[in-house]
Amino acid sequence: MERRMLSLTLLWALALPGTLGMNMEEKLVKYLFQEKAYDKNLRPVVSKDETVTVQLALTLSNLVSLGWTDYRLQWNESEFGGIGVLRLRPELLWLPQIVLENNNDGNFEISYSCNTLVYSSGWVYWLPPAIFRSACPINVNFFPFDWQNCTLKFTSLMYNANEIDMQVKIDVEVPENKDEPERNFLVEWIIIDPAGFTENGEWEIIHRPARKNVDPSVPRESNKYQDITFYLIIKRKPLFYIINIVTPCILIAFMTILVFYLPADCGEKVTLVISILLAQSVFLLLISQRLPATSFAIPLIGKYLLFVMLLLTAVVVLCVVELNIHFRTPSTHILSSWTKEFFLETLPRLMHMSRPAESDSEPQEGLLIRRSSSVGYIVKAEEYFTIKSRSELMFEKQSERHGLASRITPARPNLHGMDDRGEQLYNEIKPAITGANYIVKHMRDKNEYNEEKDNWNLIAATVDHLGLLLVTPILTLGTLWIFLMGYYNHPPPLPFEGDPFDYHEDHKHYV
Ligand SMILES: *[C@@H]1O[C@H](CO)[C@@H](O)[C@H](O)[C@H]1NC(C)=O
Ligand SMILES: *[C@@H]1O[C@H](CO)[C@@H](O)[C@H](O)[C@H]1NC(C)=O
Repeated sequence: MERRMLSLTLLWALALPGTLGMNMEEKLVKYLFQEKAYDKNLRPVVSKDETVTVQLALTLSNLVSLGWTDYRLQWNESEFGGIGVLRLRPELLWLPQIVLENNNDGNFEISYSCNTLVYSSGWVYWLPPAIFRSACPINVNFFPFDWQNCTLKFTSLMYNANEIDMQVKIDVEVPENKDEPERNFLVEWIIIDPAGFTENGEWEIIHRPARKNVDPSVPRESNKYQDITFYLIIKRKPLFYIINIVTPCILIAFMTILVFYLPADCGEKVTLVISILLAQSVFLLLISQRLPATSFAIPLIGKYLLFVMLLLTAVVVLCVVELNIHFRTPSTHILSSWTKEFFLETLPRLMHMSRPAESDSEPQEGLLIRRSSSVGYIVKAEEYFTIKSRSELMFEKQSERHGLASRITPARPNLHGMDDRGEQLYNEIKPAITGANYIVKHMRDKNEYNEEKDNWNLIAATVDHLGLLLVTPILTLGTLWIFLMGYYNHPPPLPFEGDPFDYHEDHKHYV
């Protein structure tokens, strides 16, 4: 009995607020959903032919706002204690089923189903947060100086254009002057909420228009007929790539020029080119990891790396040819006269190459006397041996070098009585002359050999210079051309080609 009493009291207590203290909101919900028998599966239209107008706006970040009028959700505020707005779960209401058509993750749903606001006029306002991943074709042509045109296309998968009419949101402009009437304007852009938006470090928003697209070629019954599309025209901020990839690439590429300054004798020429080639390959690897694997286009930086690689390959070939020429000797190769003419006279003259002055190279009595070689003394010795004493012969030049006045050799008196002695003297020194002649001949041969070798070296130097003169402008022009192409790759000043309107907050369309 006790227990029965208790449960009765409990029941009473539970039922009491239901009957006596039922609040106005509850009454309102009951009125809307039970008395008026709201069916969320039916479109909010009185007659079948009417269309529901749905307004759509997108806020960065993560908010899409939807608004429409559901006449069945109207009430008289004074009858329900002045309640002007009601918060209801979206599952209870008719929804226009608008989804992001070009989504990328197969998730058509919004990420959090928050409450809808229903006003007494029947106006339903829904602002669900959603993270949209849309499929966006990336144009890598000008990477890292590219801009992209991404779209977020919203359509209703359930209702066609006869049933709902999609529109961009209409907002009210509150005038600064109280006397002026309020004006409505179309929100033809993606709204940026300064509080909720953080600027991306990689992309800069250039244009963000929103517009309704109608495709007259498909029937109105198709849900392809209308859509509201939000466009994001974004430009990559290239600083990161300039610092990390472009600048090192260019610097390394310009090291190629140094190859032609490196003396062939140090034997590092080819090593240097190959090192540069390897360094470039590392960058190519880095870039290929950062880019979408597409074969539609070669990114700008990829083009540059390819260009540098081709150039480096040509430089390797040139280097090997140059080294081959440099180490040629007269015993292995014959220097033809036209080669000599072309590489030692014509080309250096054309390239304004400076050549060491060859003052001593005048042929003397059919002989080429090498500058600063000892051959000169020996040739002279041949002339002087008869009139100069041996000690004079040996020390004349030396004393001259040490700043002593050259001794004046007295001419020997050409006495007839001395003929025999002369003959004798000649016989005595004849082997010496033969020896000296041999030395002279040998030196002359060696001289010629060295000279020919020097000629090969000079040809190699000419080839080096030619390479320098060819590669420097090609590299400079190529670099400038490729990167200026990127530098001047800007998105167009207006979001749509052939449409003079800029879809910006500063130029509103009033309705
Ligand atoms: C709302 O209700 C009040 C009183 O119940 C009535 O006077 C008024 O006309 C109603 N308003 C409308 C728009 O029906
Ligand atoms: C962006 O793409 C849309 C079509 O998807 C096109 O109508 C528009 O002109 C493009 N905008 C720019 C700036 O290229």
